[in-house]
Amino acid sequence: MDSIRIQGRIALQGKVRIQGSKNAALPVLAATLLVGERSVIRNCPKIADVHSMVSLLKSLGCSVHWQEKGLVIDSSQVRKGEMPEEAVTGMRSSLCLLGALLGRCREVVMEHPGGCVIGKRPIDLHLSALRQMGVEFTEKNGKLMAKASRLHGARICLPFPSVGATENIVLAGVMADGDTVLEGAALEPEILTLCQYLCCCGAFIEGAGSCRLVIHGGRKLCRTDFTIPADRIVAGTYLFGCIGAGGCVLLEQAPGKEMAAVLQVAEQMGGHVYSSPEGIYVQAPVRPLPLRLVTAPYPGFPTDLQSVALAVETMGMGCSRIDEVIFENRFRILEDLEKMGAKVQQKNAHSVLIKGVEMLQGAHVQAKELRGGAALVVAGLMAEGETVVSGCPFIYRGYENICRDFRELGARVTSV
Ligand code: UD1
Repeated sequence: MDSIRIQGRIALQGKVRIQGSKNAALPVLAATLLVGERSVIRNCPKIADVHSMVSLLKSLGCSVHWQEKGLVIDSSQVRKGEMPEEAVTGMRSSLCLLGALLGRCREVVMEHPGGCVIGKRPIDLHLSALRQMGVEFTEKNGKLMAKASRLHGARICLPFPSVGATENIVLAGVMADGDTVLEGAALEPEILTLCQYLCCCGAFIEGAGSCRLVIHGGRKLCRTDFTIPADRIVAGTYLFGCIGAGGCVLLEQAPGKEMAAVLQVAEQMGGHVYSSPEGIYVQAPVRPLPLRLVTAPYPGFPTDLQSVALAVETMGMGCSRIDEVIFENRFRILEDLEKMGAKVQQKNAHSVLIKGVEMLQGAHVQAKELRGGAALVVAGLMAEGETVVSGCPFIYRGYENICRDFRELGARVTSV
């Protein structure tokens, strides 16, 4: 199922349930390594990245099963922190296994982690924080080796609120001797979820949800039953899908509170949005209004939704500008949108100007990374005629079943 075929220009109607969050599930799955007992993780999305994480956990000695209630992981038999090359290079989130395995085994051997091809994605912040906690790093034959004869707490100040580095510090910190004080922690809701999971297991973390975390290390963690929250990025993708294609939808269980910046942008586009405990209601404008959008760390507008918003603005009622300040190389869809008739001018690695056109035309386009791929599906919903998006395995890394979900909203979308 490499491609997705879309018949555009059908207004979306009805409701769709939002899957569990990828970016919350992956670090929580890594954290199950610290427990050394059986954990039950509910509402884990059945996406390619979770399947890769499950393979990685198995290769490390965990027993992992999907049951009706969720993913059951027993990490009692994990002895060695050596990760197989194929699994690591394909998935950036395998990086959070670094902190978890250091916590568990004090020693890790891994390849440089992969993930989407969006920019250089260095890991210097991870390495320098973990060094302060007593970890020594060496590189041999392209492999990264990490060893901590004594993992200890430290005072760490992150110069940029890196999500991945915060996760690694938390994961290593709960197993370190003494306290770790982290200033400049990322505020993304997925960090709060990770802290909540660890605290349910018996960890003691103060300041969860804030930029200053105090992680009291060295507590014994025990089994728990935990539910992954809904995915704010998937909810945002469908929300912008509705704004672009037209119509009126309910995104069931969408986490409105965590999506304030996204809802604000949807309103600037002319959409009517209403967030309730049931989810988010969206009513699309006749045509999106233009906007000036800048991505930012949470609570700002998420980089993961930048390309979807860009796709919507290709049919905006005027000129829009989008600045991507988190990653470079995150405008890889421009060429494909141009094939569909979009008028977009890239000013530099971080900015684009978009001149809204009245109508996109269906075309054969190619997904090159996860969120850009989802943005092309949204463009297909907006376009006249048929669009075929190939390279869809990128999309399946993060969306359980984007075709089924848009079909539930009345769209004509099939995987082929
Ligand atoms: C980022 C996003 C996160 C998103 C995820 C998946 C931000 C702040 N983070 O998390 O919301 O869910 O991608 O797409 O929006 N950096 C360094 N050195 C490091 C680590 C990061 O320079 O050691 C830089 C990166 O190059 C980038 C920025 O910091 O410019 C964001 O990195 P980080 O938050 O760590 O990225 P992810 O954890 O992948």
